[in-house]
Amino acid sequence: MVSYIFVILISYLLGSIPFGLIITRLVKGVDIREYGSGNIGATNAYRVMGFGMGIMVALCDIGKGYISVFIAQQVFGSQAALILILAGLAAIAGHNWPIFLKFDGGRGVATSVGVLISLLPKAVLIAFFAWLVIVLTTRYVSLGSIIGAVLIPISALIFNSPATYVGLGLAIAIFVVYRHRPNIQRLLAGEENKIGWNMDVEK
Ligand code: G3P
Repeated sequence: MVSYIFVILISYLLGSIPFGLIITRLVKGVDIREYGSGNIGATNAYRVMGFGMGIMVALCDIGKGYISVFIAQQVFGSQAALILILAGLAAIAGHNWPIFLKFDGGRGVATSVGVLISLLPKAVLIAFFAWLVIVLTTRYVSLGSIIGAVLIPISALIFNSPATYVGLGLAIAIFVVYRHRPNIQRLLAGEENKIGWNMDVEK
């Protein structure tokens, strides 16, 4: 039991590391939360620092999700589905509600991708392609993230994944949609930040 709690705690703390904030501070000397959407994620890092650094933040956020599941796999084995899922969800919760930022974090998209790479690889691939097509055609990253996230549990069902992993996909979709509430309001109002311009949108 203690090792379960320890692994979940480590995952939450890993997820809590705000790479977008840290890297933007180091590279630009500014607080990412005061620019663009105010989000600490890779999309906003791209707005503030450009493509290369946006990718860097995405990779770090993906990495912390992936490593959280990896640690749980090393401790409990790849078949211990429940603790792998809990470790992944803890990492995503850490990104969304980080202890280091007074529990006000990001949307959890990249961290979810990292979690899903080893647990639902086919579903995350489908979601990624949907995300890419939507972002390239509409320039709304948030819309791509929301639709991609909703596709995760649907794809998991189609690929006959175990019910626990379909549940993980569903939880992630709910987290992502919930954390995109400000984006959804802006999308409905026709005021969402398109990638590449309009840096003045409030959080
Ligand atoms: O992954 C976050 C993305 O979907 C939206 O980012 O900065 O436009 O709120 P942002």
